Amino acid sequence: MSIKLRKIGIIGAGHVGSHVALSLATQGEVDQLYIADVNQEKAISQVEDLKDSVSYLPHHVSAYATDIESLGDCDIIINASGLQPVRDQDRLDMLADTIRICKDIIPRIKKSGFNGIIISISNPADVIAAYLQKHLDYPAHKIISSGTALDSARLQMLLSEKFNISRRSLQAYVMGEHGYSAMVPYSHIMIGGKTLYELQKDMPHRFPSFDEEEMTKAVTYQGYVVLNGKGSTEFGIATSTVELVRCILHDEKKILPCSVALNGHYGQHNVYASTPIILGKDGVEEIIEVPMTDKEQELFNKSCDIIRNYMEKAEAVE
Ligand code: 2OP
Repeated sequence: MSIKLRKIGIIGAGHVGSHVALSLATQGEVDQLYIADVNQEKAISQVEDLKDSVSYLPHHVSAYATDIESLGDCDIIINASGLQPVRDQDRLDMLADTIRICKDIIPRIKKSGFNGIIISISNPADVIAAYLQKHLDYPAHKIISSGTALDSARLQMLLSEKFNISRRSLQAYVMGEHGYSAMVPYSHIMIGGKTLYELQKDMPHRFPSFDEEEMTKAVTYQGYVVLNGKGSTEFGIATSTVELVRCILHDEKKILPCSVALNGHYGQHNVYASTPIILGKDGVEEIIEVPMTDKEQELFNKSCDIIRNYMEKAEAVE
C-alpha cells in the first residue's frame, strides 16, 4: 500500500492564489501544490518562490506550475482566478470580468477529469460558485465558496475587540452575500453558552449594547479598509480558505459559515449564499438553519434576492 499525498490545485497565481499557496504550505496542509495561471511565467515565479521556503516549512512540499487540464488528480481545486476589486468597488460589479474567466476555465476543468472538491474564492463569490456548479454540472455539495468565512472572522475580530474577549470563545456568523448585502443574525451570537443579548442584560459592564447596523457596515467594509491601503486583500482570505481545506482533508466536520447551494433551506431555492454548514471530506454534509428573528430573515432574504438577480445576469454575459 502506498501513502496518499495531499494534492491541491490553485487556479490563479495572483495575490490571493499565492497567499493561499503559502498558507497551505506554512500550515502543513498540503504535500503537492499545483499552480495554474494564464500568465505561465507568473505561476512559475510563485512556485519558485514557494520552493525557496521549503527548507524552513513544517514538512516537505512539492510545488509545480501547471495548466488547468492537468489538475485532474488533485483532491481539492481552489479557484482564485480573476481580479481584485478596485477602491470601494462593489464585488458584484466584477461579475462580467470573472464570468469571462469562468467561461475559459470551465471546459479545462472538465477536460482534466477532476471530480474532487472545488473551493471558489473569486468575486462575486456566491454568484461565481453558483455559475461553476451549474456549468460544470457538478454535485452541489462539492462546490463551496469561501463566502462569509472571511466576513465572520472579521465580525469575530470586531466583537472580540469590543468586549475584550477571545475570538475563539465567540460563535458569531455573517450570512448571505459575501458583499455589501451580508447580514448578521445578532440574536444567534453565543458567548460562553449564553446569547449575546442575555450577556448584554446580565453583564452590561463587559458586554455593552452597540449599534448593530454600524457593526454590520464595519464588517462588510473591512475588506476595503485592507484593500484601499495595499491594493489587495490576501492574509484573511488565505487563512479562511486554508481552514476550509483543513476541514475537508481531515474530515473535521467542523461548522463553518460558507456559501453553498440552498434548496429549501431558509425558504430559499436556486441560490448560493452563506450559512453555517458541516464540512467534511465529501464537502457540504449538512446545512444548519440558524433560527432568525423576522427582521433577520428579511435581511437574509434580501441578500439572497440580490445574489439570485446577479446569477441571472451572469447567464447574459458574453
Ligand atoms: C475580501 O473581502 C476582497 O472579497 C475580498 O477580502
